[in-house]
Amino acid sequence: MPTMHYPQNRLRRLRRTSQIRDMVQEHRLDTSDLIWPLFVIDGIAQTEAIGSMPGVNRLSSDLVIDAAKQALDLGIPSIALFPKTDEGLKTALGEEAANPNNLICKTVRAVKKACPEIAILCDVALDPYTTHGHDGVLDTTGYVDNDRTIEMLVAQSKTLADAGCDIIAPSDMMDGRIGAIRQMLEENNYPEMLIMAYAAKYASSFYGPFRDAVGAGKKLGGDGKKTYQLNPANSDEAIREIEADIAEGADMVMVKPGMPYLDIIRRCKDELSFPCFAYQVSGEYAMLKSAFEQGWLSEEQTVMEVMMCFKRAGASGILTYFAPYVAARL
Ligand code: PBG
Repeated sequence: MPTMHYPQNRLRRLRRTSQIRDMVQEHRLDTSDLIWPLFVIDGIAQTEAIGSMPGVNRLSSDLVIDAAKQALDLGIPSIALFPKTDEGLKTALGEEAANPNNLICKTVRAVKKACPEIAILCDVALDPYTTHGHDGVLDTTGYVDNDRTIEMLVAQSKTLADAGCDIIAPSDMMDGRIGAIRQMLEENNYPEMLIMAYAAKYASSFYGPFRDAVGAGKKLGGDGKKTYQLNPANSDEAIREIEADIAEGADMVMVKPGMPYLDIIRRCKDELSFPCFAYQVSGEYAMLKSAFEQGWLSEEQTVMEVMMCFKRAGASGILTYFAPYVAARL
């Protein structure tokens, strides 16, 4: 690096006009960077507001089709689907996850039929389907049993692939699940199926509004999800998690939550140079929205700034509930 000397170097020269600022801008945001998460409910023409996520509604499948069309019109290439499962369908083992006619599979088929160009990302984890709300199956002591959970996740992934989803996104944090799902996909003639691994997923308080949205997580108890999701104090361990998922056959990885974990995205980009996505989670959305509603932050400027920060940190793309808002302003 050359040494900088004033007045030869006046860094403000590059900031004087918007034309010059644009010329030297290092990162850009595009609608193709966005993935839009949607919450799905049963029924026709149904919407339900989510109290802790102002502006986000749960949608029945027919309205998910409309949202998919809206996404494509706005240049958003992908939607991510999350079900709110009827309490009566939940079990200790979460078998509904592997039912080929569950809400998500039915929605995937309907959306792909009406709107084949949209890329559908489906979450793989048992929490929307278990009575206890954990992402996996519990052993007799209440500990999440890694290997029994993997069997369920593999079955869930197969039904999602059969339904026609484009990207399988395991969010459960079990050890070895990417390898097991990849093997199942190879054996079942899905060699091109994409896997986006929630590779560095932290045990975070920022998921609260999401758990309201899908109706899970009230009964988690003591350690919550800390026995499988990462400790927010750790960063080297996140890199080991990401490396493991890549070695097992992930095509893309994700860091989650987003804004408080930008350092992990940067490390992933620098150390592993692999497509890495950020998930700006429900709590981040709620936090920003409440400040906008109070008039304490300006919505448009703040949202666009945050999106750009994800790109600057090295993210290939962003899962965000603001996706249509952002795309409409690009
Ligand atoms: C489920 C899952 C969660 C989120 C995405 N998939 C919640 C959790 O792990 O408890 C959170 C997304 C958000 O907060 O927006 N495995």
